[in-house]
Amino acid sequence: MEINQYNLTDAVKDSFKAKDDARFTLLLETMLDHLHDFVRETSLTHEEWMGILNFLYDCGKISTPERHEFILLSDVLGLSALVDMINTRGGATEGSNLGPFYLDNAPVKALGAHIADDRPGATVLCMGQVRDTLGHPLPGAVVDTWQADGAGTYPIQEEGQDKYDLRAKFTCDDEGRYFYTTVLPMPYTVPYDGPVGKLLRAGDRHAWRAAHLHYIVGAPRMRPITTEVFFANTDYLDNDAVFGVRDSLIGKVVRIKRGEELGVEVEKQPDAKLAFDFVLAPA
Ligand SMILES: [Fe+2]
Repeated sequence: MEINQYNLTDAVKDSFKAKDDARFTLLLETMLDHLHDFVRETSLTHEEWMGILNFLYDCGKISTPERHEFILLSDVLGLSALVDMINTRGGATEGSNLGPFYLDNAPVKALGAHIADDRPGATVLCMGQVRDTLGHPLPGAVVDTWQADGAGTYPIQEEGQDKYDLRAKFTCDDEGRYFYTTVLPMPYTVPYDGPVGKLLRAGDRHAWRAAHLHYIVGAPRMRPITTEVFFANTDYLDNDAVFGVRDSLIGKVVRIKRGEELGVEVEKQPDAKLAFDFVLAPA
């Protein structure tokens, strides 16, 4: 059969002979359908196609172990948010962006630790409970957190800084509680000195993210969640550059009054506190 612009898609699918991995076949064939239809529906020109390929080439070229431009691209196109949304389990805390700055070997710290060394900014007590969807606490749950500083910078972005600062893994106590102090992170721009930045400028979009704390929370036999916690009444909640904000993920930072009982032992006296509970669904 002669190949033409309409039967080409099926011909390419058929060229992949091994079909024993059903999931792989589904992903590949659906991707081919959408990619080919994209070309047909837009009557894509050679110049436009080369422009797309060169854009992807530039994304690869600027990427390093510390900077993953393709994650950023996925974020600003809302793809990361979509994957998070469709993978959120009923009753569990909603998922949100992993972002490009995660390191999987954050230092393990004791509950109550201050994770921001002597960085400037308001000291906030972050605390809460990890529960299952039936409301039972999950003792031993692990809370892995990372964040920007009080100027909106991740230590990993700046030469000479300890990239493990502002990161920690905590094991929850017998009641599934976590608590630690840190500096309140400020909003920051996603890196826009590369190809993704060019894309944002071309679309007259800003690069600001609403201020947030990153979390990965897991417990034995539970499905781990990757999410972010935002702060009420702060900038960019309505127009976060990576579409990460969900109403259920907005916590409230409240001032700690003089002499107020914290209810937990902490290394450093906080100025304010943020209570946020996480709910995990069974694996
Ligand atoms: Fe972030």
